[in-house]
Amino acid sequence: MEKLLIKGGNSLTGNVTCSGAKNAALPMIASTILCDEKVVLKNLPYLQDITTMFELLGSMGSEIMLDENMNFTICSDNLSDIEARYELVKTMRASILVLGPLVAKYGKARIALPGGCAIGSRPVNYHLDALKQMGAKIVLKNGYIEASAKKLSAANIRFEGVTVTGTENIMMAATLAKGTSVLTNVAKEPEIIDLADMLISMGAKIHGAGSDEITIEGVKNLKGTEFYIPADRIEAGTYLAAAAVTKGDITVNGINPDRLMKVIDKLKGTGAKLDFTENSISISMKRDHPKPVDITTAPFPEFPTDMQAQFSVINAISDGTSNIYETVFENRFMHILELNRMGCDINVQGNHATIKGVKSIYGAEVMATDLRASASLILAGLCAKGETVVDRIYHIDRGYERIEEKLNYLGANIIRLPS
Ligand code: EPU
Repeated sequence: MEKLLIKGGNSLTGNVTCSGAKNAALPMIASTILCDEKVVLKNLPYLQDITTMFELLGSMGSEIMLDENMNFTICSDNLSDIEARYELVKTMRASILVLGPLVAKYGKARIALPGGCAIGSRPVNYHLDALKQMGAKIVLKNGYIEASAKKLSAANIRFEGVTVTGTENIMMAATLAKGTSVLTNVAKEPEIIDLADMLISMGAKIHGAGSDEITIEGVKNLKGTEFYIPADRIEAGTYLAAAAVTKGDITVNGINPDRLMKVIDKLKGTGAKLDFTENSISISMKRDHPKPVDITTAPFPEFPTDMQAQFSVINAISDGTSNIYETVFENRFMHILELNRMGCDINVQGNHATIKGVKSIYGAEVMATDLRASASLILAGLCAKGETVVDRIYHIDRGYERIEEKLNYLGANIIRLPS
């Protein structure tokens, strides 16, 4: 297994450009199933999760072509199969995103039921309840979700809890349903707006994405489109956090600051200076130690759970004590044990971490447990004394494009060790 060797102590300086957003791209690729024509996706990030989504669509009969400009043309108009097999679903839970489009377009789907994962149990009951309300018959059999419906009917659906991929799945399904659906208590993440924008460009009639209520008037069919994937706000936030822990001075390009407001507020709270343009964020950290900041994760527009692990590192080397409450996933503190092995002083009780800032941390051999946990270990390695080796970095390759190359360009010293 490949590892990353990080020699800590360098301040990050310079410019870095964000890649396309993984969590916007995944539902967009799934949405091509709804469409009768070719769809061209631009600025797709080169990531393992994207490859897995292509493998899934390819296994069902989609044609996927890459041109010389690195744009992908996807044609999913005549699928030969409607099944997402366990081998793929177990490596990427976002495979569930093909459920809504398949039932809406082909009247049936067979999707392996995703199990729990490192960050929580992550059930899909909200997705299934909503599809049932649209008239789908759902049977759970042999570890698979078997869904069928001659034609989905529009429904007024209030989600029991806020779910990002659940909102996306049902928004996609409703584009081809009969009548007008109204979805409430929906997720408001920027990726929901991105997906709605893409579906609208395919001819869908969607209003209200980004608010608490989304209205979708079903149409007969969707046409082809070309769509540019916006920048990854979590990747941007991760680089900003990396600058904050290394007394850095960097500019992250390609990102709209509106997508990271809560993260920016908290970064200001650490004593860093932040500047913006419409599509860049600059950060300069002059303090030897950041000021501690309390964090409570919650759905957008609140502080994103996907930035919690990175802020654990900022707080761990801060000059005081802070509290982090994780309210989205029940088990998203796996990185803390590894951080403590590097000299951090963090105590976890349930969903609450109490972090006492320490003067310095030191390198160690540590193990990544999930995508954002891996990012936090890299950040810790960047500000630790000595060498850190991060194992199981396949997690990081799922969601950060060329991370060591981008960080090294900013002055880090990271080497990828072969397996
Ligand atoms: N939940 C249920 N039932 C459901 C759906 C969700 O109980 O049917 C619960 C979950 O267990 C969790 C909470 O609701 O406790 C929120 O989960 P959500 O469904 O919003 O998460 P997701 O859609 O599976 C997406 C991102 C995650 C990100 C979360 C929260 C994608 C592909 N994944 O997951 O991204 O953490 O929203 O913002 O969009 C990552 O990129 O590292 C990542 C994990």
